[in-house]
Parts: sequence; structure tokens; C-alpha cells
Amino acid sequence: MPNSQFDARCRGLITDWTDSGQLKPFYNIESPMRPMVEISGKGEVLVLCSNNYLGLADHPEVIEAGVKGLRDYGAGTASVRFICGTLDCHRNLESKIASFVGTDSALSYVSCWNANEALFPTLVGPEDAILSDELNHASIIDGMRLMSKSVTKKVYKHSSLEQLETLLQETQSNPTRWVVTDGVFSMEGDVAKLPELVNLCKKYDAMLVVDDSHAVGVLGSGGRGTHEHFDLLGEVDVITGTLGKALGGAAGGYIAASADAIQILEQRGRPSLFSNALPATVAYSACKAIEVIEDDPSIVARLHSNVATIRQGLADLGFDCTPSPTAIIPIMIGDEAEAIKKSKQLFDLGVMVIGFGFPVVPKGEARLRVQVSAALTDDHIQQALDAFAKL
Ligand SMILES: Cc1ncc(COP(=O)(O)O)c(C=O)c1O
Repeated sequence: MPNSQFDARCRGLITDWTDSGQLKPFYNIESPMRPMVEISGKGEVLVLCSNNYLGLADHPEVIEAGVKGLRDYGAGTASVRFICGTLDCHRNLESKIASFVGTDSALSYVSCWNANEALFPTLVGPEDAILSDELNHASIIDGMRLMSKSVTKKVYKHSSLEQLETLLQETQSNPTRWVVTDGVFSMEGDVAKLPELVNLCKKYDAMLVVDDSHAVGVLGSGGRGTHEHFDLLGEVDVITGTLGKALGGAAGGYIAASADAIQILEQRGRPSLFSNALPATVAYSACKAIEVIEDDPSIVARLHSNVATIRQGLADLGFDCTPSPTAIIPIMIGDEAEAIKKSKQLFDLGVMVIGFGFPVVPKGEARLRVQVSAALTDDHIQQALDAFAKL
């Protein structure tokens, strides 16, 4: 049944976004994710916007593992975990994740979005206080919205240790204080000040939660994440992350923490109590992706070298790239329509880099976001820099 008010609102929004150049194009990809992909109606383009940081999305062993998972366990369990939906491969994946990131235990989810929605309402007590970096990922913000109204929630300015310390002092009477941060910030490409955060959490007896979605597989010589980068393995209380980026790139997420915290999440976390688990095919692929990294960490070294080459190349072309070890390189444009226009120019030159505007970043802070992969060859990198030179 048409609803004239709703239909007019939809049409109005779409017309506004089209007229202001803010309507995002969606490209149809006809090949696996890899440096060169086939786009419908366009042909081959070089991808510099995927989170396929280690190039494992089409790694032969990762694909084979997924096929084996499908053969061994079928399409799915048709049940949630606590009824009859927990498979051996979920447990294998979870112990693999825990040993990779260095915690006692881990629990998998169908996405890190789900993991963050499970974490905060389940583990944060009703009278606790939670202190969150203002640039934390949307899934942390939404996960926090699901907590009890009686939790004290405070947001500190991006990476402001001074403000965080003040908030920690102000919340000393709350039973538990939680500090939550992205390990690598997805739109800025900078790294959390983990050594200082660890010290503050120790000083004020607070729990530290790090969402390492853009750091796992990327930071540290073994790709274990932000804590490995700073030589702080074992110093973060709770780590969340995605399997949908460096670790195979399909989907899935996890929470890694103490065995008790994981048991509480298993018993009480709503996303896994009321929704099916990761399909076996994805659990197998993600497990294999971690094994590939553990067996040959030179894949991580190749990523680090590609990151350094592209950052230097863009800086030489006059782009303002702040130094950072991460595989996310934002190029600030300001105006959203301009960012989308530049992204289209690059696309016409055969290079896929997305322009981000509101609501993904604040109004007036639109940017292009370059993302680097270990799978890029020197020729790919040159092709990308040649396209940027023409902007
Ligand atoms: C920091 C961060 N956390 C969580 C997520 C969500 O991950 P997933 O795609 O597994 O839901 C993302 C995805 O962009 C992210 O960047």
C-alpha cells in the first residue's frame, strides 16, 4: 500500500542527495576481492579502498578452508549457540583467536558490530562508568546506547589523555570504570595512545577495552594488533575485532577477554543468545587466515612496506598525510561533493578510492580514504600514484 507522506519523504531525501552531489554510487563487483577487480560496466580497476589488508580474501588456502567448512558442516546450524548451534569449528576458531591476540578466551559473533552490541550491555554494570573516545566506531557508540540508563557515560576528546584522566578522577566512586577506544581509528588512520591508556587504567583501576578491527593483521610484526605494536601483549582487558577485514575478509567478529568475562557473554549476551552463530564456512576461512599469518608473518612485513611506500609517494605528490604506521591514509578534502567528485575522477583513471562525507565523518571534514594491502605489487602502487598525480 503506498503511503503518500512516506513516499514523498523518501523521494525528497534522494532528490536532495542527488542535487547536492552526496548520493553515494554503489559499484557492482564481478570478481573476488583482490588488488584488481572487475566492475560491471567498467572493467578492471585497482582497489585502494578495501580492508583486505593482507590480501587473504582470495588466498587459495582460505578459500579451500571455507569450502571444507561448507562440506563438513553444511550451510548452517539452524539454531542459536546455546540450543544446538555451537560447532567444533566455532570452538577451534575461538581458541585460535584467543591465542593469536593473547587472551585467555574468546567468543565469535557474526560481525564485530554484533560483538560490540554484546559487550557493553552485558559486561558493564548498571552503576559503572564508561569513558569513550569521541572518534570511536559507530558500533561502539550504538553498543553503548544499549547499556542500562544508570551507567555513567562520558565521551572524551579524541585521544585527550588529560580529559580522560579528569573523567577517571570524577568517576572513582563508580564500582567499575571502563575506558573504550578504537586501536586504529577508522577515519583518521591514527593509533590509540595505548601505553598511556594502559598506565591511566592501572592508575585509576579501570578496565581497558580496545576495538582492534583495523589493527588486527596490520599492526605489530606478527599482526596481533595495537598491543603488539606497542609491546603491550597481555595489557588490554578486553579486545574486540572483526574477521571481515584482514582476517579473511568475509564477515564475523570476536570478543577476546578473560575466561569468566567470556562465560558471562555466552550466558547473557543477547546477540548470541537470540541470533545464529557464524556459518562454518566463515569460521574455517577465518581460522585458516590466522594460520597463514602465524605460519608466515612476512605477509605483515609486506603490508608495512607497502604502507611506507604509498605514504611517502602521496607526500611527495604534495598530499598532506600525517605519519602513521596504519594501512588507512585519509586525504582531507573538506567539502563532501568535492570528495565524491575526486573519487569519481580517480575511478575514471582506474583507481577505486572512496570519498567519505557526513554521517560517516563530521560535516565539512569530507575526505578520500586510501587503504593499503599487502597484495599490492610495486606496479599497482605506481599505477595508484600516477592516478593521484593527475588529480
Ligand atoms: C573499528 C570498527 N569496529 C567494528 C567494525 C564493524 O565490523 P564488522 O564489519 O565485523 O561488523 C568496524 C567496521 O568497519 C570498525 O571499523
